[in-house]
Amino acid sequence: MHRAVAYLLVGPTRDEQPAFARFVTPGLVRSLQLVGSANAVLVLSWWAFDPWLFGAHAPTRRAYAVLRLGTALFQGSIALGVSSLRAFRERPLHLAVPLMWANAALIGWFVGQLGGPATPWFHFVYVTSFFSIPAPVKVGPRLGLNLVGAACVIAGYTLCNPAYLGEPFFAVGVSYYLWTVLTATVLGQMAFRQTVESFRATEALARFNSTLEAEVSRQTESLAALSSHLDRAREADRAHIARELHDELGQELTALRYAVSLTQKRWERDPAALAPSLANLASLVLRAADTTRGLVRELRPRLLMEMGLGPAIEWLLGRIDTADGLKTRFVCPSPLPELDAELAATAFRVVQEALTNTLRHAEATALTVTLTLGVDSLKLSLEDNGQGFDPDGLRAHAGLGLVGMRERVRALGGQFQLQSAPGRGTALTVVLPRMTPTEPR
Ligand SMILES: Nc1ncnc2c1ncn2[C@@H]1O[C@H](COP(=O)(O)OP(=O)(O)OP(=O)(O)O)[C@@H](O)[C@H]1O
Ligand SMILES: [Mg+2]
Repeated sequence: MHRAVAYLLVGPTRDEQPAFARFVTPGLVRSLQLVGSANAVLVLSWWAFDPWLFGAHAPTRRAYAVLRLGTALFQGSIALGVSSLRAFRERPLHLAVPLMWANAALIGWFVGQLGGPATPWFHFVYVTSFFSIPAPVKVGPRLGLNLVGAACVIAGYTLCNPAYLGEPFFAVGVSYYLWTVLTATVLGQMAFRQTVESFRATEALARFNSTLEAEVSRQTESLAALSSHLDRAREADRAHIARELHDELGQELTALRYAVSLTQKRWERDPAALAPSLANLASLVLRAADTTRGLVRELRPRLLMEMGLGPAIEWLLGRIDTADGLKTRFVCPSPLPELDAELAATAFRVVQEALTNTLRHAEATALTVTLTLGVDSLKLSLEDNGQGFDPDGLRAHAGLGLVGMRERVRALGGQFQLQSAPGRGTALTVVLPRMTPTEPR
């Protein structure tokens, strides 16, 4: 019972009303243009058949002629009004409903011309209730619209001959008519419910689209920021390497060149006194080799290259100062098998950035880093008990650490998941696909 009432009361809320009107009005205008003009044309074109259908029966032909002219007038006015007048294009029912009622009264009058309640003509009017089914209105106004329509028919009918009121079949006809009014109201409400549902689905889709658009432009912005940050970082790296090459390796090579020419001169003068020069040369070569190694070490974390991912992470965590007040725990299968160099470097950089974030932003007292190895994946999770933050609330230019991590992980085809909320700590999970180990490039 309760569900049936809820079903009948379905309709847009007060807040939804303006958007709902915008949603249904264009379709309603198009239907009224089409149905109104088609009705007008049809009732007029069938006129040609009247002599053949009704022969010489003048009263019937006259009644039909009035019905045709009136209907063409009302229906044509509906089509014309909603097409040309702005007020009715915006509120088509304000024109269509009164004209439909007038048309209903005309139909009643016409049926009355053909005979009283004892003849079958009155029963033709039941169908008029069903014309309201497509109207996009709630159940209350719909019932009112149908009842007034029926009252117009009966008024036209009895105006034609008030004596019909006293005939015994009249009450029976009206009671059947009432039944069709109620049926048309329920059927109309069913159609209306579909309209409301498709309106809500369209609205939800539009909302989803706009959040999607916002998300895409947010991501595009942060990727653009990341890309220019990477460009700047690459430039800074290049400048640093150039400086190192110039200041360190360049100096050492100049000294080497000088020592070689000195040795050459000594060899020409006194080959026996060559030993100290050669020793000097050897030490210069050693220094140049050291400098080169130092540069290489800076470009790729040495620990990672020499000891592998597990110890490199342990080393990172071990560097934390006790003054930071952060206790760390590292859970890792040991020994780790040999991993692909790029995979290990990505995992290392993720831990490095997440750890820096925990130290800089979290005010946490505990951080657990867990590394698990599957057959074809490596999973890293980092959980701190700090103050957390709202990841959705970050502005596009908030920082580049998280964006950089996410992009690094995605570039390897991995998954990146960040869970955090103010006061709830932060948990980062990264899953990277494992590849066959390759030599570090
Ligand atoms: N573990 C964490 N606990 C609390 N807040 C965090 C944590 N990690 C990140 N945040 C928040 O997310 C923001 C973005 O982090 P992200 O690493 O992207 O940038 P950043 O650390 O501010 O700058 P950088 O570009 O140097 O990394 C931080 O500014 C911080 O507010
Ligand atoms: Mg950061």
